[in-house]
Amino acid sequence: MRVFSRLAGVGSYLPGSPVDNNALVARGIETSDKWIVDRTGIRARHLAAPNETSSQMGREAALKALDMAGITAADLDLIIVATSTPDYVFPSTACILQGSLGNRGAAAFDVQAVCSGFVYALTIADKFIQSGSHRKALVVGAETFSRILDWRDRGTCVLFGDGAGAVVLEASEKPGILASALHADGSQAGILSVPGQVANGQVTGDPFLRMEGQAVFKYAVRVLTTVARECCETVGLTTDDIDWLVPHQANIRIIEATSRKMGLSMEKVVVTLDRHGNTSAASVPLALDEAVRDRRIRRGQKVLLEGVGGGFAWGALLFEF
Ligand code: UT7
Repeated sequence: MRVFSRLAGVGSYLPGSPVDNNALVARGIETSDKWIVDRTGIRARHLAAPNETSSQMGREAALKALDMAGITAADLDLIIVATSTPDYVFPSTACILQGSLGNRGAAAFDVQAVCSGFVYALTIADKFIQSGSHRKALVVGAETFSRILDWRDRGTCVLFGDGAGAVVLEASEKPGILASALHADGSQAGILSVPGQVANGQVTGDPFLRMEGQAVFKYAVRVLTTVARECCETVGLTTDDIDWLVPHQANIRIIEATSRKMGLSMEKVVVTLDRHGNTSAASVPLALDEAVRDRRIRRGQKVLLEGVGGGFAWGALLFEF
């Protein structure tokens, strides 16, 4: 009998109080609330405390997801963390999270696919479960992007925020995850990157996020529309069959353009960007958790997740909740 993976629990965590656009102006960034809202839709974001790490935020989100699933960390046999802002070079953030959750023995590793990291990680967990090798997976997206922002670069620093989201996946006879599609194009690595590394005891290169905003914008709209169709067609569905789209939260204009091209009303799109900013790998599970907990997303509905970002990497995943 075919084994599916079913979403048994979701959870999320946002650090501190919201930091609105005017607070950034007050910090001396040469911008305005009007520019940020008009060009991006972002009104506020959350920023981690100086010592707060991706694994700590991931833990808070994970505990909520485990609670909803009605299991404990000891029951997990797979832990995957999607992050581009790991606690350390190594060990993986997933292993640090595993230790803090008190799980021993589960497979644990990080996935680095930047803003599509959560969709990549959920797809990987799904394939582990479908293969029969694992039965209970924790998938976390956790980011402290505020640490890699150049606060002198107004073209990027106003866009991002920190946070974490988590999903517990369980083996099930019924769907579950129906389809997924992942892609990347490394020839576009330079349009969104943090081109630095640690070498010989020093940071070399450039340790800040750099982005060609317009190139990223155009690429994102194009690939998100295509991958959404591809994912649905794999299982004989169309985007008309989707009850909810939970897209990566980067720019409201990207989200609107994508949903328009997909023929999907904005009423079916979950948007948290206005309050969270772009939290990279955390953005999709943060939005998913909000829409599950406020009961917009209900059992039996079909939900499409989409991620896109540095790599260039993108993907979509369709599930029945
Ligand atoms: O998660 C990964 C995916 N990332 C994304 O999806 C981001 C994709 N890109 C975007 O969202 C948009 O390209 C941005 C929001 C980053 C920029 O919007 P834009 O409409 O492409 O603006 P622009 O870069 O063409 O800049 C327009 C003007 C420039 O001034 P001039 O040259 O026209 O005088 C910028 O210097 O806006 C200026 N500008 C700002 N002004 C006030 C850039 N950033 C700011 C700012 N405040 N924060």
